[in-house]
Parts: sequence; C-alpha cells; structure tokens
Amino acid sequence: MKRTVKDLVNLKGKVVLVRVDFNVPLDNAGRILDTTRIDQALPTIKYLSEQGAKVVVMSHLGRPEGYEIRKSLWQISLILMEKLSCKVYFCNTVIGQEAKDRIKIMQDGDVLLLENLRFYPEETACDMKFAKEIASLGDLYVDDAFGVAHRKHASNYGVARILPNAIGLLMEKEMTTLTDSMENPKHPFVVIVGGAKVSSKIKILKKFVEICDTLMIGGAMAYTFLVASGVAVGNSIVYHENVVDAQEIIKSAEEKGKKLLLPVDHVVIREGDKKKKKFVVDKMVDDMIGCDIGPKTIELFEKEIKGAGQIFWNGPLGLYEDEKFKDGTNKIAKAVAQSSAYSIVGGGDSVSAVKKSGYAGKIDFLSTGGGATLKYLEDGSLPCIDVIQEKIR
Ligand code: 3PG
Repeated sequence: MKRTVKDLVNLKGKVVLVRVDFNVPLDNAGRILDTTRIDQALPTIKYLSEQGAKVVVMSHLGRPEGYEIRKSLWQISLILMEKLSCKVYFCNTVIGQEAKDRIKIMQDGDVLLLENLRFYPEETACDMKFAKEIASLGDLYVDDAFGVAHRKHASNYGVARILPNAIGLLMEKEMTTLTDSMENPKHPFVVIVGGAKVSSKIKILKKFVEICDTLMIGGAMAYTFLVASGVAVGNSIVYHENVVDAQEIIKSAEEKGKKLLLPVDHVVIREGDKKKKKFVVDKMVDDMIGCDIGPKTIELFEKEIKGAGQIFWNGPLGLYEDEKFKDGTNKIAKAVAQSSAYSIVGGGDSVSAVKKSGYAGKIDFLSTGGGATLKYLEDGSLPCIDVIQEKIR
C-alpha cells in the first residue's frame, strides 16, 4: 500500500510540492473547455492547505514547444482562486530565484501555482538536474497526477526519487477504483473500446478478453479487427501490422466463450469527396472510408449496455472531433450513462462525450486518465506510482 497524503504528519509550515494533471482541453483560442481535472485535484490541495502546509502546485498543459502563451497556467490560477477559499498565487517560472522568492513569502495554508512544466524541455526528458532544482523548492512531494503517471518525467518520476513522498487523494481513488473493477468485476462485464491506434491497446484488449463477458470494438481500430475477420473495409484506416494481434484476440474470445462484437454497419464517406457527404452502409467497398458506427451497431451495442452489470468504456467510436461523425459516440455515451450498471469511463473524448450527453452525473467513475488508465489496468501500477514510498505499518 502506498503512503497517502493523509499519512504525512506535522505539515504546518512545510512546503509541499504537489504534482497535478491540469492538462485540460482548450479551444483554438486557448480557452478552457472542461475543468474536470482541476476539480478532481482540489481535495488534495484543500487538505494540505487546511493542514497549514504551503502548497506549491505544478502541472503540464498540452505539448508546447517552448513558451506558448495559450498554454500558460495563468488562467488556471484564476480558476483556483475562485474554487479555493485560501490565498492562491501564480509564479511564471518553475525553477530559479523567482520561484524561491515567491515561496519564501507564502503564509501557511497558501497555494502557489507554478508555470507550465512543459515550457522546459528538461521536464519530458526527465532531466535529473531539473528534477533536483524543482525538489529544492520543497520539503515533501505529493503525486496526485494520475493522468500522467505513466510518463517518467522530471516533475513526477524525478522529484519522487529525491523527496519524501506520498500519493494524493485523487491518485488513491483512481488506483482503488480501477483495481477493484478488474479484480472484482460485476457481471456481465461489458467493455467498449474505441479510438484509432490498435497497437497501444493490444495488451489491454487481451486482458479484457480474460476478464469481461462482452467486448465491443468501435472507432477506427474496428477496421483492423474487421479485416482480421475477413470483412472488407474499403479504404478505411487499417493497421496491417496489428491484423495478426486482432486475429489472436478474436480467437481467444471464441475459445473462452466471450462475446466480441464488431460494427455491423458504418457511416462512410467516399475518398476524395471534399464535401464529405456521409451515408450508411452494411458493407464497405472500393473507395469508402468508415468514419463512425452505424445505427444497427448502435442498437446492438445499446442492447449489451442495457444488460450489463459493469461497464468500462475508453475511446470514441467514430471521428468524434468532426461534428458529422459524433453520433455513435454520443449515443453510446447516453446509453452508458443511463444504464443501471456500475460504469467507468476513461479517456478525454469518451469523458467529454458523456458530459455532453448531460448524464455525466450518472456515471459511477470518470477516470482522469486516458493512456494512464489503460496502462494502469494493464499492469496494475504505473512508473510514477512505483517510486512512491510504501505505507509504514
Ligand atoms: C493526458 O492528457 O493523457 C495526460 O495529461 C498526459 O498527457 P501527454 O499524453 O501529453 O503526456
């Protein structure tokens, strides 16, 4: 069992560095579209502030190349000011004299948000000199950034190896809920996986086939599975290097008597059609490109969702970023939210689809991770969790 923030004692006056994942979705103008990740990190920040710690919060936002004003954490500090009752300050650097000076003038219980960690290339390079400079700012380190815990970066993996540490309350909640969903699933356990890249999901799909009762595959990755089962997909995206993996997963599901459902109809466009006129077909031929699951597939998936005891969903079921191809994802989001099953949704697009459905409140657990959630389910831990100290018994 990992040490949690609640195991840390005598926090009054201590400078606690808290790594959070404030990597929130932005529109083209850089405005924040959804504050879930900020909201979910508040309990740890509040707890530390209430204990009298000087809370230094750090996060990345996006994948900037050097300084990008759109990706400054300044606007997040304004949100924190609204949501927290303590004093909140912002520092437009991460390391150096300015950060040190700002920390020096903090009172017990104050919160200071540092600038975007990824404005420094040393962050993603896990440069230990950079990690040491960050660590020199504080007395203790708390990792509450579940969404990025699969990445070995300087501010999480690096700093945890230098300072006495613990996990935060969000990290703890993610770990307990996800572990329990795999170890004690409520049956029938229905898993819905979408998105484009098959390669990143092969390992977890193999694991899901072992544990779940029904596996439903949509999104662009479904075309690789359709090819693996001998179905023509026109000119849709196919990851040929993963066709054999897909065949193995299909075979393993058959042998284990598990249901593996693939789309039976498709929303397609014709290659080269600049207007992207969409139509629905059962069979894709020639120059057709699949962009979403069709109405029969939606119905088929909805039926399974209705009878489920537990649902796990990750990844959009069509080209969700395009208004024209959102239908499949949105309808499945609504079905998952309305079902009486214990439901877990992970991944940015699936979470935002559920939110837009207006039924997000009915989802039992919205994981703040995308890649991290899948990796955690795959391995039962993540590199940045492994470096956190164990609880003293
Ligand atoms: C995420 O959004 O999945 C995390 O914040 C990690 O972001 P990254 O994929 O840019 O490392």
